[in-house]
Amino acid sequence: MKIVQLTDPHLVPRGTLLRGIDPEARLRACLAEIEAHHRDAAALVVSGDVTDLADRPSYQLFRDILAEFSLPPLHITVGNHDRRSVFGAVFPDHLAPDGYAHSRFDLGEHVGLLLDTWTKGTHAGSFDRLRLDWLGAQLAEGHKPVLMFMHHAPVKVGLKRLDQIALKGEEEFWDVIAPFRSRIRHLFFGHMHRNVAGSWRGIPFTVAAGLTHQVMLDFQTEIVRHIEVEPYFSIILVNDRDIVVHPHAIRDVRIIDIIPDTTAPAYTL
Ligand SMILES: [Fe+2]
Ligand SMILES: [Fe+2]
Repeated sequence: MKIVQLTDPHLVPRGTLLRGIDPEARLRACLAEIEAHHRDAAALVVSGDVTDLADRPSYQLFRDILAEFSLPPLHITVGNHDRRSVFGAVFPDHLAPDGYAHSRFDLGEHVGLLLDTWTKGTHAGSFDRLRLDWLGAQLAEGHKPVLMFMHHAPVKVGLKRLDQIALKGEEEFWDVIAPFRSRIRHLFFGHMHRNVAGSWRGIPFTVAAGLTHQVMLDFQTEIVRHIEVEPYFSIILVNDRDIVVHPHAIRDVRIIDIIPDTTAPAYTL
């Protein structure tokens, strides 16, 4: 099974740039590649920061661009740069009846859970009681293994500013998922604007760098310093034993074909 994770498109109104880069062009480039090569995916998960300033024209632009492509089944949540009410006005189908941008989706032998970590007035994330209870109820339902997606991570990664705006309430989150630990196969995050991988309390996780600006790897500074690199999205391959995550950069590449020399005793990669 294949899943595509796309995160942090940070769309701005048409015709404007974000720190000198063009989020719309980057989004189109990624969606074109997903349409061309990954339409067979079981899901396309957008893990928040859909827009940069949570303005309605940017959400409408996102909706209009998505409609231009043939894509896998789409699941979207919000990040700290979003505003749930404006998002919900443009994407009502991506809000649950309780008003949160969380959802459960069928992945055959697995269950996908997309969580909503958005919290008003802060760039950090958190869950209130209602969202934790929803999560607990989802985990208690059935016996399938779970793949979990969300914007903010509870993990501290050593980059000071990112760690200040991580997910708050780590212990409360852990208390809810710990009884189901054996069925949670992998956590997928956005928000950090870097490709990061590791494990949190023994659960493997991957952070996708996203489509726009990236955060410089600087363990000293208290502020975030941005760099311009290629847009990334993740191709996730899952079977009943293993999970592989490919962070994939969209760039102009020169393909170097290796033509095997069948007369040589051996050739190497
Ligand atoms: Fe972001
Ligand atoms: Fe974010």
